[in-house]
Amino acid sequence: MKDTELVGVQKTLSPVLRAKALDNRLPDPILGDEYAEQAMRRLVPDYDTRRFGTSQMGLAAVVRAKAHDDWARSFLAGHPDAVVLHLGCGLDARVYRIDPPGTVDWYDLDYPSVIELRKRFLPAREHYTLIASSVTDLAWLDGIPRGRPVLMIAEGLVPYLTEAAVRELVTSVVDAFPTGRLQFETVPVWAWRTSKWDPSLRHYDAQFHCGFNDPAALADWHPRLEFVDEAPMFDAPELMAKAPARIRRLYRFMLLLPGLKRSTRIVRFRF
Ligand SMILES: C[S@@+](CC[C@H](N)C(=O)[O-])C[C@H]1O[C@@H](n2cnc3c(N)ncnc32)[C@H](O)[C@@H]1O
Repeated sequence: MKDTELVGVQKTLSPVLRAKALDNRLPDPILGDEYAEQAMRRLVPDYDTRRFGTSQMGLAAVVRAKAHDDWARSFLAGHPDAVVLHLGCGLDARVYRIDPPGTVDWYDLDYPSVIELRKRFLPAREHYTLIASSVTDLAWLDGIPRGRPVLMIAEGLVPYLTEAAVRELVTSVVDAFPTGRLQFETVPVWAWRTSKWDPSLRHYDAQFHCGFNDPAALADWHPRLEFVDEAPMFDAPELMAKAPARIRRLYRFMLLLPGLKRSTRIVRFRF
């Protein structure tokens, strides 16, 4: 199967995976994910010989992944009995990067065709379950053990869902568990509204379906939910420290554009 057999939003997993694969070739990588390089080679064998195939412009997505990893590690260090819901997982190798103890039960969820690719490209492991489902069909939540702390990670997913679907997901997860963390990103309303003309999204036949100018206000969706904090992405110190000089200059230039710095907000909540 090639990436061309993925449809619509499923194809958006490819540029993020490529960014992680290329990061792994840096002398001092941000994420250092060998699985990404292997999976990308299986997905698109000639990805690095195509036009812009080795451009490190996607490194901001790697910074985003690192922020999610760091938050996840710190939560799991204090909650070794947690259940992890990694939603819209794509071909991301987070479970192998974090390598949680056997007391953690980890669930990776994505559409069936993506899960099929995961089964072929990435190894199985103990206490690790794949769920082939749309995240919006909340029947999948019935199969998750309750009564334990939960960590919900949705990287690169929320903007592709409608606000109603995100709200139902968030409130259902909070209702289902005694305590937990939710970490994901949002885009502002302007980015959602203009996404149908965004050439990079059009390339993948995808568009955004929701946007939030004040993501912290999502805590109002549930009385037990609280906003915790936000991680930097386009202006993250790691990006400026580790990206090749040419890419750093490009990002510095892009940051002069109004709105870019906060065009993706990496946020976390607790309950
Ligand atoms: C931008 S990719 C991010 C993949 C991965 N989280 C990462 O950061 O590498 C978006 C992913 O969300 C998945 N996705 C989008 N809408 C979904 C839905 N309704 N249910 C399940 N997965 C969905 C896509 O199939 C794709 O794998």
